[in-house]
Amino acid sequence: MALWAGRFSKEIDETVNAFNSSIAFDARMYKHDIQGSIAHATMLGKCGIISLEDSQIIIKGLGEILEDIESGKLEFDPTAEDIHMFVEAELTKRYGDVGKRLHTSRSRNDQVALDLRLYLRDEIAEIREMVRKLCKVLVELAEKNTETVMPGYTHLQRAQPITFAHHLMAYVQMFIRDIGRLDDTAKRMNVCPLGSGALAGTTYHIDREMTAELLGFDSPMPNSLDGVSDRDYCIELANTLSIIMMHLSRFSEEVILWCSWEFKFIELDDAYATGSSIMPQKKNPDITELIRGKTARVYGDLNTLLTMMKGLPLAYNKDMQEDKEAIFDAVDTVKLCVKTFTPMMETLTVNKENMRAAAAKGFINATDCADYLVKKGMPFRDAYKISGTLVAECISKGLTLETLPIEEYRKMTDLFTEDVYEAISLETCVKGRLSQGGPSPDAVAVQIALAKEKLEA
Ligand code: ARG
Repeated sequence: MALWAGRFSKEIDETVNAFNSSIAFDARMYKHDIQGSIAHATMLGKCGIISLEDSQIIIKGLGEILEDIESGKLEFDPTAEDIHMFVEAELTKRYGDVGKRLHTSRSRNDQVALDLRLYLRDEIAEIREMVRKLCKVLVELAEKNTETVMPGYTHLQRAQPITFAHHLMAYVQMFIRDIGRLDDTAKRMNVCPLGSGALAGTTYHIDREMTAELLGFDSPMPNSLDGVSDRDYCIELANTLSIIMMHLSRFSEEVILWCSWEFKFIELDDAYATGSSIMPQKKNPDITELIRGKTARVYGDLNTLLTMMKGLPLAYNKDMQEDKEAIFDAVDTVKLCVKTFTPMMETLTVNKENMRAAAAKGFINATDCADYLVKKGMPFRDAYKISGTLVAECISKGLTLETLPIEEYRKMTDLFTEDVYEAISLETCVKGRLSQGGPSPDAVAVQIALAKEKLEA
């Protein structure tokens, strides 16, 4: 029998009940539902809205239900409408009339808004910690590779020399910003909808400050219509998670390239790669491809939330029940991806020789060759032209700037002397890029130190 049986003359159709029910996916909020109900019952008792005795029985009963769910003694009823109804019905089953008093001056509308905030607050804390761990792994890898020269790319064309550490620290910056976005999201959503009622507050003299404080919120939400119908925090979180996935996906794309025979900059640990059913030679970076693919899913979740909300009149509408599967999927996907990506990065082998060989081949010191002339007094544009002409000459002769004879250099200008080879050596080119944020080992050491400081904060 449904809770609203008084108003109805028939039982709900079975298909409609299944269609309407959200317990299959909102049962995961059981702990937060109970946590919210305990705070509500505490407040009802302290404010004299129900007796202190009843309030204590409810709190005890809720504690028992929580224990029984966690021990597996109590199973969710799949025909219940949602987790809120399930817990309340169970309490009533156990404590009769006292259980029926729990929902005084409350609605499922403020209850679901509350539960979801409480649930996501915990998830955000977990994801934050996971992203922080990933950053630490990347920083550690960077520390071992501050002298590992590799080509830096633009347009996926070899451009200028950098180090593997410099490249890794770029991602650390992205993930540190992601942590900041998680913190912002958590901060803004940490307000309490409980006490909004169905939409229009309540006639009881409730204490919203008390429940907000009991549940660790900064304050109650100022407007009850907004309290029950705001899902900005889900959208904001889905956005933050989408950006995390975008970063992971870009990184994954590079890992995929680096694992190819064309690059061979890194090798994944066997435990983090897969083989082929037909081609015995294959070692595939499936994890990273899946992360790239799953990024689409999280973007889809964000889009679901934005689209679901866009036409809803105030206040609560049942459309909003769709928020949970979308945000849960985004949360689950990000956790799964970070959890897999982190140890994969932790265990990979860096192929320093191949990185260096690639850096030596692509004329990535052509800018440095021009800068050599500039430092001897030539205007940059003229030096740029000479360096370009020398590159063309090398290509036609199958040489590199390092192997081009000095006579050829001096044909262009006698500003060139033997020391040009030293000036365009990869080591000089990298060490010379000591500007703030640059790839020189010293400059990257500063980036590492700053990142470590931020990650400890
Ligand atoms: N299961 C519902 C949801 O997830 C809870 C709120 C139901 N409120 C209502 N008025 N039917 O949104």
